[in-house]
Amino acid sequence: MPALRSAEWWSKGDYYSFARRAWLRSEGFGDDIFAGKPIIGICNSWSELNNCNAHLRTVAEAVKRGVWAAGGVPLEFPTISLGEMFLRPTAMLFRNLMAMDVEESIRGNPIDGVVLLCGCDKTTPAQLMGAASADLPAIVVTGGPMLSGQWKMRRLGSGTDGRQLFDLYRTNRLTPEEWCEVEAGLARSPGHCTVMGTASTMACLAEAMGMTLPGCAAIPAVDSRRLLMAEHSGRRAVQMVLEDLRPSRIITRDALENAITACMALGGSTNAVVHLLALAGRLGIDLALSEFDVISRRTPYLANIKPSGQFLMEEFFAAGGVSALLQELLPLLHAGALTVTGKTLAENIAGAVCHDRDVIRPAAAPLHSEGGIAILGGNLAPGGAVIKQTAASPALLTHTGPAHVFESYQQMLDGVDNENLPVTSDTVLVLKNAGPKGGPGMPEWGHIPMPKALLRQGINDVVRISDARMSGTSFGTVVLHIAPESAAGGPLAAVRTGDSITLDVPNRRIEVNLPPEELARRLSAFTPPASPYTRGYGRLYWEHVNQAHQGCDFDFLRRNP
Ligand code: FES
Repeated sequence: MPALRSAEWWSKGDYYSFARRAWLRSEGFGDDIFAGKPIIGICNSWSELNNCNAHLRTVAEAVKRGVWAAGGVPLEFPTISLGEMFLRPTAMLFRNLMAMDVEESIRGNPIDGVVLLCGCDKTTPAQLMGAASADLPAIVVTGGPMLSGQWKMRRLGSGTDGRQLFDLYRTNRLTPEEWCEVEAGLARSPGHCTVMGTASTMACLAEAMGMTLPGCAAIPAVDSRRLLMAEHSGRRAVQMVLEDLRPSRIITRDALENAITACMALGGSTNAVVHLLALAGRLGIDLALSEFDVISRRTPYLANIKPSGQFLMEEFFAAGGVSALLQELLPLLHAGALTVTGKTLAENIAGAVCHDRDVIRPAAAPLHSEGGIAILGGNLAPGGAVIKQTAASPALLTHTGPAHVFESYQQMLDGVDNENLPVTSDTVLVLKNAGPKGGPGMPEWGHIPMPKALLRQGINDVVRISDARMSGTSFGTVVLHIAPESAAGGPLAAVRTGDSITLDVPNRRIEVNLPPEELARRLSAFTPPASPYTRGYGRLYWEHVNQAHQGCDFDFLRRNP
């Protein structure tokens, strides 16, 4: 057994060792907890301000049972929690703050290993990033998806169906009473959103990269099997300390490529691109945005889950979950990648069976021959941009039309409900100043609600482009993460209403049809916005955040390759 790190806190024979033992015993522990037992931190992002993680205290109790049973000592600690629905101006602004909280809480305390409890969108990547930087043995237990929503005889996917029904309500096709019923039935339990949004995606990718026990991601939040999974994870955390199995041995380039492959086959959230780039940066792995496209082109889209498909996470779980999906993808994966079990990915999923071929398609009969996400280039996005092609209208994937520009989010909000907005089905809606700095925090504004004037004509989708992100639960022909962003002087800043824009997904282009000299002339007049922050975390963020194609991490938190 390796020397325990925690022993440095209480085994030196000096006054402070005595004092630390005495202070910890004030919680009622006996002195046997200092007798060479691994101390397992339980890093809990529980919060009543984050409904998706509101059950994690119960999950933590199950983890503790496992840790005790395996001969370790569990010590639970809180971190900030990022509730996607509540946090202003946007949870993404604080992902790096949470990652720093996680990293320093692990590093600064008498911990030998850690179990990471997460769920809502940003909490999983923040914990992965922090744990990767601290690099002590770590295992993830995600909180699981909430129960499927219910309204009349309809099953609802939080986010995705809520948005669709809101469009009916705002155009008077649902009554206020019906809208009230939808509100009551949309989110019926704790747990993260139950479509393949960012939270489900990141949970599945944590499993695909080997950071959870097999089968963890898809178990519903309130299913008793999640508590069993948590207990097993607690037991395993103790063994990982004894084996000195750290994130740097698990989250390798191969593991990240496995996660990207899984993301493409899942029709996963575009936000995963940003988070995986940031995670790679924490480990000194030089992962480029363009590599996502290489993997996407060779990976079939298989998971028939909203918003790209038909089903919800409960059906994905019943069909076999991530293990069944990975089994289908095995020829495209690095099968020998090490995982938290101490075994390889291939060993973990041996014998996994798919129970419903409508939910997880066979690789030979995919829903789409390519992965869910395409990476675009072109004169509007020299650093790249992303589109979830499987959630887009096929007819719009190749499209040229006139731009209608919103210079800000507020201008967009003021415009979309204007019945006289001069837009047609050909229009390309453009939103500026919504990127990492422009938002600030790169909010999920990129979906851009469909203008009322178009909805009334029965037009439910037009091309929309921005430097923002989009909720993983959203859908439509939406180009996101344009880099560099407009607030940093990227070419998007030069686009004006009436300019011709071309989207060409098969050829991976997003272009403004202007001569290069005109684009350069307009950009030469660009003036960067002033920082909205003079102090505090906002100022740190503004001064150090990277662009989307670099993962939006802080420059000083990346590790050199
Ligand atoms: Fe937390 Fe959707 S709001 S996962």
